[in-house]
Amino acid sequence: MKTIGVNALLVAAVPGEAQMQAIYMDETQPIELRVKDALSRMTLEEKVGLCYAQSKFSSRGVQRLGIPEVWMDDGPMGVREENKWDEWGGAGFTNDSCTAFPALTCLAATWNPEMAAIYGKALGEEFRYREKDVMLGPGVNIYRTPLNGRNFEYMGEDPKLAATMVVPYIKEAQKNGVATCVKHFALNNQETWRSGVDVQLSDRALYEIYLPAFKAAIVEGGSWTIMGSYNKIRGTYASHNDLTLNKILKEEWGFDGCVITDWGGAHDTKEAVLNGLDIEMGSYTNGLSTGRAFAYSDYYLADAYLKGLKSGIYPMSSIEDKASRILRLIFRTAMNRHKPWGSFASPEHAAVARMVGAEGIVLLKNEPLKKKESALLPLDGSLYKKILVVGENATRRLTEGGGSASLKAKEEISPLAALQAKYGDKIQYTMGYASGPSVYGREGKPAFNTDSLRVQAIEMAKDADLIVYIGGLNKNHRQDCEDGDRKSLDLPFEQDVLINALTAVNPKIVMVLLSGNAVAMPWIKQVPSIVQGWYLGSQAGNALVDVLSGAVNPSGKLPFSFPVKLTDCGAHAFGEEGYPGLADTKIETYKEDILVGYRWHDTKNIPSLFPFGHGLSYTTFKYSKASISAKSIEKDGTLTVTIPVTNTGKVAGKEVVQLYIGDVKCSVLRPLKELKSFQKIALAPGATEQVQFTIKNDDLCFFDEVKHAWVSEAGAFKVYIGSSSTDIRAMLDFELK
Ligand code: BGC
Repeated sequence: MKTIGVNALLVAAVPGEAQMQAIYMDETQPIELRVKDALSRMTLEEKVGLCYAQSKFSSRGVQRLGIPEVWMDDGPMGVREENKWDEWGGAGFTNDSCTAFPALTCLAATWNPEMAAIYGKALGEEFRYREKDVMLGPGVNIYRTPLNGRNFEYMGEDPKLAATMVVPYIKEAQKNGVATCVKHFALNNQETWRSGVDVQLSDRALYEIYLPAFKAAIVEGGSWTIMGSYNKIRGTYASHNDLTLNKILKEEWGFDGCVITDWGGAHDTKEAVLNGLDIEMGSYTNGLSTGRAFAYSDYYLADAYLKGLKSGIYPMSSIEDKASRILRLIFRTAMNRHKPWGSFASPEHAAVARMVGAEGIVLLKNEPLKKKESALLPLDGSLYKKILVVGENATRRLTEGGGSASLKAKEEISPLAALQAKYGDKIQYTMGYASGPSVYGREGKPAFNTDSLRVQAIEMAKDADLIVYIGGLNKNHRQDCEDGDRKSLDLPFEQDVLINALTAVNPKIVMVLLSGNAVAMPWIKQVPSIVQGWYLGSQAGNALVDVLSGAVNPSGKLPFSFPVKLTDCGAHAFGEEGYPGLADTKIETYKEDILVGYRWHDTKNIPSLFPFGHGLSYTTFKYSKASISAKSIEKDGTLTVTIPVTNTGKVAGKEVVQLYIGDVKCSVLRPLKELKSFQKIALAPGATEQVQFTIKNDDLCFFDEVKHAWVSEAGAFKVYIGSSSTDIRAMLDFELK
């Protein structure tokens, strides 16, 4: 054991002045010098002590040296309530009811990096106020299958979109002296067998599809921590994986922060020591569910590690590295004396939640019932005497449930409450269906026969002037919830039966789906207006009514494709091997490879129900003739593409102008086109904006598995500019020399 030096004794004995003068305490000193100084004062036991949990959500500091503990909390959409020290469950605090912000799918659907910045700032302030050092989020796993129970915590199917949105979120959040913990690194794209599934995929799929958002979070966003996921990658658990953590994250991307396990993600001391893990959390538990009595000193990085270091099995350099990373984290967060104070559950944060929510809502369909009539949305209350609201999600608390992202929200304004506030006693309500309580790990089932609910809804629908249906999924097990995937693409709780019956008696129906996932819509032809409303958090009802009423013109665009049926989706086109993996070995092969989401639909010519990037407005936008600055580009050059976009309708609105590029001929398979840039513009009626994009060689590359590098091949390329991935308004050609 290292003896405690005079310096350290001095620090301990005279906490006041001498401690403040120590280099590690001095924030004017370079961080690396502070790390070195702190390390020089620490015993081996103290260094190892940093590397594992001391409670469900915290890890130790160095008590003797005044180096504080690290306090973490979920999750990506709000600060989770205080947890008990050693077991799962709320501690019963009365000061921890937070602002619930909209789910990350909704944030992604804004396609507006400014919204991500505002969101990150507000969320960071909430974490800071609650004195947390690490926020366990955001999540950027790619949307591979609509069955994934956790898609609502992520930012959709496209690496460019997710990467663009995650960077400002992180930058703004971390200004509060709170570290983001980007999760779940990597390839945690389903919840079925999440702690055992062994993902096999090509380097191309890894680098082109699944890594870019994480890379942006680390390299551009500068996230101070990252969470290793539960699954295996090519045979090794992701929380201690040499390829993803040592080679890619730490070597290729130069990450100097901490890798934290998902809760219970560590499985082996040697791998944890050598394969890039820094802080071990939640061992012997599976996240929120199982647990057993154990001592934190039994953790893989605890006594077993210390013993191995002392006996020379593990190199001392391993603990120097881990402790350095953890000290950096502590200096950046808990020991940052200049961080702001934050704020919590404030009216300003409620306003952020409402604004982001309204901007992320996607108007999927809005067609008049008869020619020459206007569409049902925006909802003009003066036209109706009786507006019937049907559906459990009109009143259900959707900030609760879903697993670790479940929130104890200070308020949650339901859609029904907001509709009543807006349209008064024109509003009538009936549930129509029921789903049952939200019990973690168990599928919610109503305790009664729900036929009577359906019968009543149909009766009430007959003489309603308008039906506003508010259904979708919820946060129950096997819906949008951690630790289980959905069983099918269909709407649950017999909603399709109900919707069909409603449309048969009254075709004037506005469908609002609250979910984090795509659902099948067998009734799509009978329903004239459809809104994708996500999970909107504390201000859910207000944000929704802002859009339904037209107070806010919808401008959200889908961050993932809605397939017609499950097998139209790349992940489900290859049987069990492709999803969820083989039952005996748990090996899952990403056979669709790089063709995820719209890349699959486009390239294989399989139409989607609603394509990636789709979203309507209450106004119309005209895209005029596009131009390109030159017919060819050199490898180190740039091209400028310009397209005038005009608001040709009667109300102000925002449009997301999307630029995709396709490689016409290449030695490897390439998707028909890929999103390379987008801009969200706001236009008054009649106004025009010249939207400009710059194209560079980086936008033309694929990942060459042999060279292990990004390369582009000379030849013809196509530019597609559109209002969605299929609504292409202009095409241009150019050549790479
Ligand atoms: C989840 C993580 C979460 C952690 C702590 C795990 O079950 O996968 O996303 O941050 O629990 O609650």
